[in-house]
Amino acid sequence: MQLLILGGTNFVGRHLAERALADGHSVTLFNRGRTNPGLFEDVEEMHGDRDEGLDPLNGRTFDRVVDVSGYVPRIVRQSAEMLRQATDHYTFISSVSVYADFTTTGIDEDAPVAATTDAEVEDINRNTYGPLKALCEEVVHSVYRERCTIVRPGIVAGPFDDTDRFTYWCVRPSKGGEFVAPDHSSRPVQFIDARDLAAFTLKASVDLLHGVFNATGPLKDALSWGDFLESCVEVAGGDARPVWVPEQVLRDAEVNLGSELPLYAPLDRPGFATVDCGRAIAAGLEFSPLKRSIEDTLRWARDAGHDLTAGMTQGREEEILEALRRSRL
Ligand SMILES: NC(=O)c1ccc[n+]([C@@H]2O[C@H](COP(=O)([O-])OP(=O)(O)OC[C@H]3O[C@@H](n4cnc5c(N)ncnc54)[C@H](OP(=O)(O)O)[C@@H]3O)[C@@H](O)[C@H]2O)c1
Repeated sequence: MQLLILGGTNFVGRHLAERALADGHSVTLFNRGRTNPGLFEDVEEMHGDRDEGLDPLNGRTFDRVVDVSGYVPRIVRQSAEMLRQATDHYTFISSVSVYADFTTTGIDEDAPVAATTDAEVEDINRNTYGPLKALCEEVVHSVYRERCTIVRPGIVAGPFDDTDRFTYWCVRPSKGGEFVAPDHSSRPVQFIDARDLAAFTLKASVDLLHGVFNATGPLKDALSWGDFLESCVEVAGGDARPVWVPEQVLRDAEVNLGSELPLYAPLDRPGFATVDCGRAIAAGLEFSPLKRSIEDTLRWARDAGHDLTAGMTQGREEEILEALRRSRL
């Protein structure tokens, strides 16, 4: 299969390219040549800006296209329309952030998506990211109809992730001692290994799947924070121990629940950790063993000398553990 990836050199797209090559497909990457230039030896790389710079793709045909780098509907329309006659099938990597309401659990693909009030907005931030992705999906669907797949990943985990939302929890236990863990060990946690996402995306593409698919961790037999951190501690070795700090204590201490305790879905937004990806599982989504994801991520972070951009500093941990002790007096 001749596969075109729009993007392909950072994280999600990089794993997709690796998987496609491993499966024997012929891969072409289209990007600006800025992120990790020369990363792959055996792929054709075409350079251009996907906003008004798609000319190098003119006249080319591909069996399949996967768009990993689309965030703005006006720009996604350019590649979608240009490639309409040039490919059989277009897969768009969207996000579970499209959903309008995370106060409920078990969000499936039929749940309402968020809308932006201003169709001209192109600034991508935490408020516009989801609604813009939803508009991008609409564009792809309007151009390709039954010839497209929309994949909505939850938080993606694994080597090369620069958000550190999963990586922090792999790395922190390796430093030993007590560390702050969110709320209660029974709370659910959800993520998808980038390699599993790559395999599913490729399968959707090869099999010409049509429709929308959430791609997160399983909801049935959901992973708990307790089991997750136990595995992280085991993989790291040493004497690290999670201390479960009730959410109210965290809030009173003004902990940033998104960046200081990444991956955690606060009590008022349980939907973030309970997205239903049963449809993707039925279509072939499979999950790697948890310890493999943790081991590979920890090894990558160590080998790369990766500096964490999320998680708690040591000083902050001491502050929060002291606040917990005081709350129990
Ligand atoms: N990480 C998560 O937890 C998560 C969760 C849900 C959804 N997602 C979605 O998954 C995708 C993840 O992206 P990624 O960065 O990991 O993908 P990637 O495909 O590995 O990297 C992004 C690629 O896009 C290229 N690119 C960026 N701007 C471009 C432009 N203007 N024109 C042409 N190429 C451009 C970059 O190369 P150059 O810089 O060289 O151009 C790079 O190759 C996104 O769609 C995101 O919304 C991620």
